[in-house]
This record gives sequence, C-alpha cells and structure tokens, in this order.
Amino acid sequence: MSTTPAPGSSSSSSSGDQPSGEQASAVTVAVHPDADTLARTVALRLVERLVEVQREGRVPSLVLTGGTIADAIYQQVAELPDAGLDWAQVDFFWGDERYVPADSEDRNDRSVGLDLLDEVGVDPARVHAMPASDEAHPDLESAAAAYGEEVRAHGTGSFDLVLLGLGPDGHVASLFPGLDQLERHDAIAMGVTDSPKPPPERITLSFDALNRTREVWFLVSGEGKADAVARALAEDGSVAETPARGITVQNATWFLDEAAATAL
Ligand code: 6PG
Repeated sequence: MSTTPAPGSSSSSSSGDQPSGEQASAVTVAVHPDADTLARTVALRLVERLVEVQREGRVPSLVLTGGTIADAIYQQVAELPDAGLDWAQVDFFWGDERYVPADSEDRNDRSVGLDLLDEVGVDPARVHAMPASDEAHPDLESAAAAYGEEVRAHGTGSFDLVLLGLGPDGHVASLFPGLDQLERHDAIAMGVTDSPKPPPERITLSFDALNRTREVWFLVSGEGKADAVARALAEDGSVAETPARGITVQNATWFLDEAAATAL
C-alpha cells in the first residue's frame, strides 16, 4: 500500500509545518493494489477503529454507505476473527438510502443486513435504518425529517466515523451533481426526488450532518471512478460538479485501489 497526502493538503504528520493560526487538513490517500486488498484492509481498520472508540469509553457511531466496494468490506468484516469488539455497543446510521419498501433488494441497508449486521450480533435498538417507502410517513420529506429526529435523538452531536462511496459522477451519499440539496443547510436528512441514478426517490444526510464527524473514509475502487477521485482531490473545482468536495472533514482518508488512483 502507498500512502500519500492528498494534493493541496497535508498529512497528519506534516501538519506541524503549517503556519500557526492556519488549520491544517489531514487528508490522506491510501492506494491498495486491488479491490480485494482494499476491502480486507479497510475491514481490519474499521474494526480496530471501533475497538479504539469503545476503549475510550464511548459507543461508536458509524455511518454506513451502500455500494459495491462497501459491500465487499462488510463481507470481510463479517468474516474477521473476534477482535474484542462489542458489536452490541455500536450505533449504526446510514448516509443515504433508496426510498423503496423495507424488504426491497435495492435498499442500501439490505446488503449490510445480510453480510454484516446479522452475522455479528448487533443490538437492533442501535441499528438506525432510514425510513422505507412502505412505512407510515405522509411523504418523502416527512420520512427524511423523521430520520433527522432519529439522528438527533440517538446521536451525540457528532459521528465517530462516516463511510462514503463515490459515484463516477462524484456523488457521495445521495448528494448528486447539480441537485438543490447540495446547498441546503436546514436539515440533517433530506428527501431527493430526482436522483439521476435509479431509483429517483432517496433520503440523504446533508453535508452539514455528514461533516459533523470525527473522521471520514472514502471507499473507492475501479477505473470508472478515477476522474471523480481526481476532481474531488484537485486544488480547484465546484461542489455542484463534484459533490464529494462538499465533505470538508479535517480527518479524511481516501481508500483507493490502483485503478481508482490512475488519474491522480
Ligand atoms: C446508491 C449507492 C451509491 C454508491 C456509490 C458508489 O445508493 O445508489 O449506494 O450511492 O454508494 O455509487 O457505489 P459503487 O461502490 O457500487 O460504485
């Protein structure tokens, strides 16, 4: 694996070189040879990180993402030997969800449910899935607002770790290029009715909510994402074109495979 600070940012180790008064960002890019190695490494790091938070005496709050590489990571996590993590003492949230019925195979939380949560023995009361379209919410925006309340009620004001996949168009969660939701600052969770990626109706956390975390990990594999990765990490560019740029968390790690890093 090679690890480099992102262009236009400094690694944690070099942040001491920043002029005083200027806040250093600690964006790290970790490139792995292939998707399997990436999934295994992130799975191990994820469990380690959750154990660390529990040892600090807190219940870690983890925001999950959907996507192919995320699913591969969850699968790996489920197969790891016991690392001393108390899965019943982890709060699970989602960064976005497809607004489809609860039992739909299309839901982002289905794969996590099958591959990870069912395997490791979580506390169902700590699994904060986003609302489904067959629940009794008057409409999508009310369902999103209900999830905002769920985060407020069970969160501590800040997540410990947010996991984010990246679309080839630069989207993260269900924050797609050009959507009005990119500029909303009035909600924790928002409805999306015109997602360019099917299905059109989704619920997504806002940038404000996603940025309220101690740490964010971007999980990206495949050459189809290379341009989006380069745009996200470039010195200049807009959030409207590349929504990943709206994630401004100081402690950010980009876990890439070599194919996803080819345009850096
Ligand atoms: C969705 C997906 C999506 C995904 C990214 C990356 O809700 O449609 O969860 O947002 O996270 O597109 O997905 P891949 O890793 O499969 O490319």
